[in-house]
Amino acid sequence: KEDVLILAIESSCDETAAAVVKNGREVLSNVISSQIALHTLYGGVVPEIASRKHIEKINQVVQAALDEANVTLDDITAIGVTYGPGLVGALLVGVAEAKAIAYAAKKPLVGVHHIEGHIAANFIEHKDLEPPFFSLVVSGGHTHLVRVKDYGKFDIIGRTRDDAAGEAFDKVARAIGLGYPGGPKIDKVSKEGNPEAIAFPRAHVEDAPYDFSFSGLKSAVLNYINGCQMKGIEYNQADIAASFQKAVTDVLVANAMHAVEEFHVDKLAIAGGVASNSALRAAMKEACEKRGVEFYYPSPIFCTDNAAMIGVAAYYEYINGTRSGWDLNAVPNLKL
Ligand code: KG4
Ligand code: ZN
Repeated sequence: KEDVLILAIESSCDETAAAVVKNGREVLSNVISSQIALHTLYGGVVPEIASRKHIEKINQVVQAALDEANVTLDDITAIGVTYGPGLVGALLVGVAEAKAIAYAAKKPLVGVHHIEGHIAANFIEHKDLEPPFFSLVVSGGHTHLVRVKDYGKFDIIGRTRDDAAGEAFDKVARAIGLGYPGGPKIDKVSKEGNPEAIAFPRAHVEDAPYDFSFSGLKSAVLNYINGCQMKGIEYNQADIAASFQKAVTDVLVANAMHAVEEFHVDKLAIAGGVASNSALRAAMKEACEKRGVEFYYPSPIFCTDNAAMIGVAAYYEYINGTRSGWDLNAVPNLKL
């Protein structure tokens, strides 16, 4: 059988990324041009700036992905691209690029759901992992508990009612003066703090045991900071970070374990930017071990946005017969 090589493109937020993936599991190249430094000036992603930067970078990122994989467009079987969810102007750059390449090189085009990509990141380093399994997707825009029934077949079991987990990390980080992006900074500072120092709330959504809510926690942190300032006491940044991080991970682990028990899950894979959080990984690993559940997580580089994960998802869509037309468009609120 001939090898299937996917050239994948990802531009849904603030990373311009391209990758070449062989037979769904082997990453030949994974090029990421991050705009983080640019957006740091504004304390978060500025959509208009993101789109413009994608336009500037996309061609060289795609070429670099081909070069690093030591292939040309001729060798590529199909073009995979994220078409949602995400920032519409940012998505459009990747979609237009993918369509142009596919059209010019006469290759099939495969539109990919960004969250499907995050979940598929687990296949890269865990060659034994196959559906069915459960996945907790925790990123800047999403917090989903997903039952992966087969490649490309999902049931959403739970979701956030307000802020995504990563969004909460970013907002709290900003409030305590850590800046953007908040997740990695809170992760780091927390190592110097006491996770039991402050009793922040663990929100559970009534009658929806698998849903999440993080806006109350965020408000609790803001109130705590205001309280300190009003009393003229200096707050301990590391203690707030560690206590906040513990509150988030407690809820993520509790809901995931509830699902594990209720659905008799034997494999759990975490995904998305927050899946690189060291406290979450440690807590989830321990909880899974206790219950005899196989626990999977991608390396940090495959947790945050990248095109390799899109290439993996595109491969499974491609072999299942998914083909996108020339009318493929960006869908900012695409459902899984
Ligand atoms: O998956 P991702 O790169 O983009 C989205 O699809 O949203 O996730 C980015 C999010 C940001 O909110 C970032 O703060 C968070 O993931 N993040 C982390 C860590 N690394 C990234 N959150 C907690 N701990 C980390 N180590
Ligand atoms: Zn993402």
